[in-house]
Amino acid sequence: MHPIDEQTVLVTGATSGLGRALVQRLAEAGATVVAHGRNASRLARTRAEIREVTGRTVDTIQADLAELAQVHRMADEVLERYPRLHALVNNAGVGFGPPGGARELSGDGIELRFAVNHLASYLLARRLAGRLVECAPARIVQVASAGQLALDRADPFTEHHYDGVTAYRRSKLAQVMASFELAADLVGTGVSVNAIHPATFMDTAMVSESGGSPTSTVQEGVDAVWRLLTDPELDGVSGHYFHGTHDAPPDPQADDPAARAWLRRLSDSLVAR
Ligand SMILES: NC(=O)c1ccc[n+]([C@@H]2O[C@H](COP(=O)([O-])OP(=O)(O)OC[C@H]3O[C@@H](n4cnc5c(N)ncnc54)[C@H](OP(=O)(O)O)[C@@H]3O)[C@@H](O)[C@H]2O)c1
Repeated sequence: MHPIDEQTVLVTGATSGLGRALVQRLAEAGATVVAHGRNASRLARTRAEIREVTGRTVDTIQADLAELAQVHRMADEVLERYPRLHALVNNAGVGFGPPGGARELSGDGIELRFAVNHLASYLLARRLAGRLVECAPARIVQVASAGQLALDRADPFTEHHYDGVTAYRRSKLAQVMASFELAADLVGTGVSVNAIHPATFMDTAMVSESGGSPTSTVQEGVDAVWRLLTDPELDGVSGHYFHGTHDAPPDPQADDPAARAWLRRLSDSLVAR
């Protein structure tokens, strides 16, 4: 792998929680950091804070991942602005929501957690994969979760018996399944794709919104993702799911090729321009 201070790394959801802490760590290490956010003032504040703490400037890019046209536009912008890209961390995510929260839709009318957690990260990774291959060795990290639930082919958007935890868990397993598919597609290119549960109930906005009590620090999550991004021992390791720093089995649906192929067809049809 390239030394971290020679890498350009794109991190989504960099204005809060794990993403915010990760971009600071990357900036401290001398990487060229592209920090993504959906809100211009939060992005400007993140940039100013990181400059204050590290003395280094991060680049920023804005897109609401709840709208697939904005994900496409973001990918176009990344490809235009960054001829060199060595890592993508798909970290942005929507959590459980408040207990008893109503079903929410994306700007495209798709169940919100499936749209942001799975479809946006699916589309971004696939749109940027070619650039990562050109700059290989390179790494894609999908920040998923241990909270996984098999998708229901008859109800992929959780229209029935909805609750935010169910929708979240399905979307996070979809991320893992999509990362296994992309890893298989990229065998032999020098680009690895791995999914990770960073840490359990970190002290972040999505955990407090759901009413949960933190049991891990954000730093534990950063350390686990940092390892996936930078550990030379993971050169060539691709298509794995990690629970923190350990290789772990995901929900069995992730190992079902027919289920993965179904999800891939569904996702491709939804992200087509
Ligand atoms: N916290 C945990 O214990 C835990 C456990 C397992 C997995 N994870 C995963 O870790 C990742 C980071 O979560 P976190 O705990 O750091 O939560 P967080 O503090 O709530 O951060 C979530 C990030 O995603 C961004 N985001 C949400 N919706 C978006 C949208 N429509 N468009 C663009 N960006 C959007 C948020 O932007 P704003 O700043 O604008 O809100 C924020 O930057 C998520 O993928 C989560 O599922 C977390």
